[in-house]
Amino acid sequence: MIPFVNLSAQYKAYKDEIDSAIISVLESGSLIGGAEVQKFEENLAMDTGAPYAVSCASGTSALCLALAALGLTPGDEVIVPDFTFAATADAVALLGGIPRFADIGDDFLISPLSVEERISPKTVGIIAVDLFGQCANYAELKSIASKHGLWILEDAAQSIGALQNGKGAGSLATIAATSFYPTKPFGAYGDAGAVLTADEHLASQVRKFASHGRNAEDRYATVGTNSRLDAIQAAILNVKRNHLEKEILARQQNAELYNKLFSHFPKFKTPSIAKGNSSIFAQYAVTSKDRENVIQKFSEVGVPTRIYYNSPLSAEPCFAHLKTAASDAHANFNAYRLSKEVFCMPIDAFTDVLEISRKIKSVL
Ligand SMILES: Cc1ncc(COP(=O)(O)O)c(C=O)c1O
Repeated sequence: MIPFVNLSAQYKAYKDEIDSAIISVLESGSLIGGAEVQKFEENLAMDTGAPYAVSCASGTSALCLALAALGLTPGDEVIVPDFTFAATADAVALLGGIPRFADIGDDFLISPLSVEERISPKTVGIIAVDLFGQCANYAELKSIASKHGLWILEDAAQSIGALQNGKGAGSLATIAATSFYPTKPFGAYGDAGAVLTADEHLASQVRKFASHGRNAEDRYATVGTNSRLDAIQAAILNVKRNHLEKEILARQQNAELYNKLFSHFPKFKTPSIAKGNSSIFAQYAVTSKDRENVIQKFSEVGVPTRIYYNSPLSAEPCFAHLKTAASDAHANFNAYRLSKEVFCMPIDAFTDVLEISRKIKSVL
């Protein structure tokens, strides 16, 4: 079976650089924080265009730190897309907030129209997710947010390297959280994350919460946590950063090959990329009403697929108590429909899409 994400091929390609970066960290004795972490944060700020980058332990942790910095308090409502990875809504609930689920469009991105319908007197903010590598519609979300005095948190876990009208993912909202989980287009070799913002105060709040709430006077001003990036992961990311542009280009070329392939088969709908957006194709998500049959046929010729995501979050048991008429299958029609039709194809820079095309054509 072809690997869905070929991390071993990636490691082989950069082995010398990665091995020597890891050894340098081990020899330095500086394993948490230090020069590699600082260099990583500076690079990330420069590459995304967000003036402040604060590294942390994971994307989930980055979301929690960002929400804490924004001042989320128990009972506050936050509008999140109904179709995303669980962490987006988990972070709100973990801090005592209430996720309110909005529908998505055909492009899998949160629908601004649906966001507006979910606003209540308790709403404090919106989390927009740059799902599958494409930025959400920040122009419309910002006009809604400013009308209602809300903040926007950009969940850029799947989009570092993507652009919207020339601006980098991670720099498009009040604050952003991202993940460097190994299978992300920009991934570490373990858990890692970061918060990005143009707001100096928010950045310093995030740094404080990530380090047990310790303030500049070395006092524990508030309760905080331990959310740090290991120096080894930072060193790996500093190496991978030098290959990111090339890998994103390879992903985009793979997407073009898939677009061409699926255009011959009308039962598939390929990803639509909004004007002004460039996607990094964290996932190449196709929809088909005949999904289970298609997945079976692909697997018979050694082509793997993955379903992201097979249920809207509002239908998950952990959020069942939050279900309202506004998050049911009727109101969030696209989230419910697409979760039954979507599947993703292997797309990373080390995937041979021409080989996959040949195999697929033989069974379609
Ligand atoms: C949209 C989204 N948000 C948040 C996360 C959480 O990141 P992590 O796994 O690093 O905690 C992920 C990771 O898969 C994600 O895809």
